Amino acid sequence: MQVGILGASGFVGGELLRLLLLHPNTEVTIATSRQYERDYVHRIHANLRGFTDLQFSSPDIDQILKQCEFVFTAVPHGSALKVMPTLVNSGIKVVDMSADYRLRNAKDYEKWYGYTHPHPDLLEKFTLGIPELRKDEIKNSDQVSAPGCMAVTSILGLAPLAHSGIVEKRAIIDAKVGSSGAGTKPSLATLHAERYGVIRPYQPVGHRHTAEIEQELSAYSPEFEISLSAHAVNIVRGILCTSYLTLNRDYSVQDIWKVFRSFYDGQPFIRFIRDRKGVYRYPDPKILVGSNFCDIGFDVDRDRRHLVVLSATDNLVKGAAGIAIQSMNLMMNYEETMGLMLPPIHPV
Ligand SMILES: NC(=O)c1ccc[n+]([C@@H]2O[C@H](COP(=O)([O-])OP(=O)(O)OC[C@H]3O[C@@H](n4cnc5c(N)ncnc54)[C@H](OP(=O)(O)O)[C@@H]3O)[C@@H](O)[C@H]2O)c1
Repeated sequence: MQVGILGASGFVGGELLRLLLLHPNTEVTIATSRQYERDYVHRIHANLRGFTDLQFSSPDIDQILKQCEFVFTAVPHGSALKVMPTLVNSGIKVVDMSADYRLRNAKDYEKWYGYTHPHPDLLEKFTLGIPELRKDEIKNSDQVSAPGCMAVTSILGLAPLAHSGIVEKRAIIDAKVGSSGAGTKPSLATLHAERYGVIRPYQPVGHRHTAEIEQELSAYSPEFEISLSAHAVNIVRGILCTSYLTLNRDYSVQDIWKVFRSFYDGQPFIRFIRDRKGVYRYPDPKILVGSNFCDIGFDVDRDRRHLVVLSATDNLVKGAAGIAIQSMNLMMNYEETMGLMLPPIHPV
């Protein structure tokens, strides 16, 4: 299948290229970038040297529609809005990586993103692309909106609990994210001198991903509330979400495992982590680099009914390109794991 990537010079675009170039059923025919038009892709994504002779082209939707059967829009939020009506009306299948089509209620865009959504009618066409939660819907969708990286990492840790009803309807999420989460556009905060070595609380309250997380969890448990605090930490790739919840009565470790295992039975990219020995006894983004896994674990203080859930991903793979390709596989009726069953890199 011929695939186009709008916004291919960014970090997410680079990961889409890395994975799609080796995917058995895809050929990338268009990779767009305005700044790098006509440059070879491997000049920007130097890890792909020897894997492709593709050159970046300008974001020309007519060309994309002529040369592609499937498109990923890996552009900043606000930019996907401009091209989406044409893409949707053409009938091409699309996975949007931006936030522009993730929220079901147009009013939420005013509240969380500060703009009035110009195509509220398109929102209902999009399915939020979390295959572990919406496999059948994704299979029957032509438009999928990939979730935010912190959102999907939190949601995957919390959905089984919201669904089971064993917790009170509230979670506090402490998220730590690596520098690639901010994309390639430079700013003072991303300068090496300012970013290196930090544990920087950059959004203690009011993070935009709050809206997606509550939207998804409320599908299992109406009015489930979360509070998300985001920190920038000193890694390049990876997210760890530590979520604090209250059990509504005394449950054993085995009871809680049962909730997770039955909810995710047979899901190829969910791994449960809770070891008595070794360095990696709980989910840790360091051992997820380059992979499409979401590792989930927990611990419980039974005296206080206090449950701590840990979920970790590589923000550029399970948090972006990998989960988007997983959705593409489902939309195209390919094997869900096709091109994605890669072990993480260790050590990094
Ligand atoms: N980084 C992550 O961990 C992550 C995870 C999940 C989702 N996302 C989302 O995925 C999208 C891409 O993220 P990223 O980190 O790859 O960002 P990025 O590194 O800033 O890349 C953005 C890409 O979009 C292109 N672009 C920017 N403005 C454009 C416009 N108006 N029209 C056409 N192309 C435009 C850029 O190339 P040119 O400017 O050269 O055209 C570049 O290729 C964002 O919506 C982001 O929120 C990111």
